[in-house]
Amino acid sequence: MHITVLTLFPEMVIPFFTSSIMKRAVDKGIITYSIINFRDEAEGVHHKCDDIPYGGGAGMVIMPEPISKALDKIDAKGKRVVFPTPSGRLYDQDYAAELSKCDELIFICGHYEGLDQRVIDEYVTDEISIGDYVLSSGESASVVIIDALFRLIDGVIASESLEEESFSSHLLEYPQYTRPERYCNKSVPDVLLSGHHRHITQWRNDKRIEKTMHSRPDLLSDASLSVDERNRLLTILDKEDRRWILSEL
Ligand code: ADE
Repeated sequence: MHITVLTLFPEMVIPFFTSSIMKRAVDKGIITYSIINFRDEAEGVHHKCDDIPYGGGAGMVIMPEPISKALDKIDAKGKRVVFPTPSGRLYDQDYAAELSKCDELIFICGHYEGLDQRVIDEYVTDEISIGDYVLSSGESASVVIIDALFRLIDGVIASESLEEESFSSHLLEYPQYTRPERYCNKSVPDVLLSGHHRHITQWRNDKRIEKTMHSRPDLLSDASLSVDERNRLLTILDKEDRRWILSEL
């Protein structure tokens, strides 16, 4: 996959591409990337990229020309162009999986109050929100979106790690433990030391259901629980939870 990021602050994005798992994916040739500073396309000695909003209001708006010139240079029309914005469609694991199948993705990072609507209408295919809060920069949102999708591309991460993690079946992840066996007066659960694989799988499954019930009960209605898992859920939960969940499932 080729990822292009259009930004006024390349220094916010470069470390993501040159560190950790993304660096490995780039070194393996699974990901290629370009980071373009669209200020280079702006006119005048000051390379001004933003201006006050027509109609008044607080803050500045990114002007259309510098962005559209940068987009035309990379033939962006007809390609998947993402603009992270709090008013976009909410990002989730299914959306990340969909984007991970693209050969090329282009990200426009906004700053200030926003981006001229005509650029959005002309080029943007996906306006994406990463959550119901407002960030000061589109760079951090772009990095979050890219992080969730690139790791789903074949060869980036072992497929068994992906299967077990949160959201892979609309359930959250089970708790993990490593050495030492005792820490802060707390022991690793006996079952994990037992070597009994069936019991370990059962315990982990119970914990996923329990964790989802307590932290994100809204996910349970989408989780396709087997009859066994449903029964486990009912035994794990106290009476009040049971009444609630029976009305949801
Ligand atoms: N830019 C600012 N806030 C954002 C959000 N919540 N999601 C995506 N982009 C953003």
